[in-house]
Amino acid sequence: MSQNKHQFSRIIGTGGYLPEKVLTNHDLEKMVDTSDAWIRERTGIEQRHIAAENQTTADLAEQAARQALNAASLTPEAIELIVVATTTPDKIFPSTACLLQQRLGNHGAPAFDVQAVCSGFIYALSVADQFIRTGAVNNALVVGAETLSRIIDWSDRNTCVLFGDGAGAVVLAASDEPGVINTHIHADGQYETLLHVPSGVSKKPVTDSLSERSMHMRGSEVFKVAVNTLSQVATETLEKNHIHPSDLDWLVPHQANKRIIDATGRKLKLKPEQVVVTVNKHANTSAASVPLALNEAVRDGRIQPGHLVLMEAFGGGFTWGSALVRM
Ligand code: ACO
Repeated sequence: MSQNKHQFSRIIGTGGYLPEKVLTNHDLEKMVDTSDAWIRERTGIEQRHIAAENQTTADLAEQAARQALNAASLTPEAIELIVVATTTPDKIFPSTACLLQQRLGNHGAPAFDVQAVCSGFIYALSVADQFIRTGAVNNALVVGAETLSRIIDWSDRNTCVLFGDGAGAVVLAASDEPGVINTHIHADGQYETLLHVPSGVSKKPVTDSLSERSMHMRGSEVFKVAVNTLSQVATETLEKNHIHPSDLDWLVPHQANKRIIDATGRKLKLKPEQVVVTVNKHANTSAASVPLALNEAVRDGRIQPGHLVLMEAFGGGFTWGSALVRM
């Protein structure tokens, strides 16, 4: 007789990948009217990684996914669900998740992309968590991967200093205990034009126009909404779970801007050393940013099994969300 047990998802492996090529702030000084001092002071960014010409989002995703699968001791054939968060897919279709599935040699598991820009990983984690909670699958590969360098106008100093390429991944497995305690995801489409790429498929097919196919951002307006929204979603998550900020071991925030990260950490009254910061090394990698930061802190031994981690992200849409996770 089947027993109706509560089923949760738990992170059993993490992975990350940054392309070899590094572009420093000093390199950017030679490309646009900017300075290392301005970029560091306003964003905390020191360098970013850029995919090689022949490297695609699926290539980056594969590296991160293989590392996460190794850490989880799971073979690619054993994956039951693949969700890839990306804003920079290899092709219009098939999805990057299907391209990743092909590379990994997995056949038959459902595979699809989630598009929520910088909040993509939190959205994807939330989706995969629901699949596992309902018992539909027993495990899931969740990847955030981006080649943002392909949608950047490298002559626009307002955006080009902020972004980079990379991929991060986690493997989730069903567990009697959480794991992913809760996720909260939100969106408000009224902010479309504060952060967007004008061209696409249906409205304005991608043309050779650099401006049409590049990211546009009204930075200081995005900044204000991001700070307020991230504080709200962090508070919402903790209140709904009856958790006091002092119960948290780690904040793993979206890595867009050190000032936004610091503001959220201060709001939660966390010590600076409880906040995982990697934005200095890879800039804003959108959907890859949270899993890259998580992976770094897991691999260097800061995040230990049993620790309570709050992840949060904010991005184009606007979209935002959080995940409260017992490691
Ligand atoms: N180098 C030098 N000067 C610059 C640069 C640069 N790279 N970029 C802008 N400036 C100038 C501006 O032109 C402006 O000059 P002005 O005063 O003469 O007009 C001045 O610096 C100040 O600009 P602000 O926009 O007020 O600077 P701010 O302190 O807001 O910092 C920044 C800009 C870093 C973009 C910040 O607003 C920010 O981080 N915004 C949020 C980004 C974010 O979080 N995005 C998350 C989602 S991303 C996604 O979903 C894809």
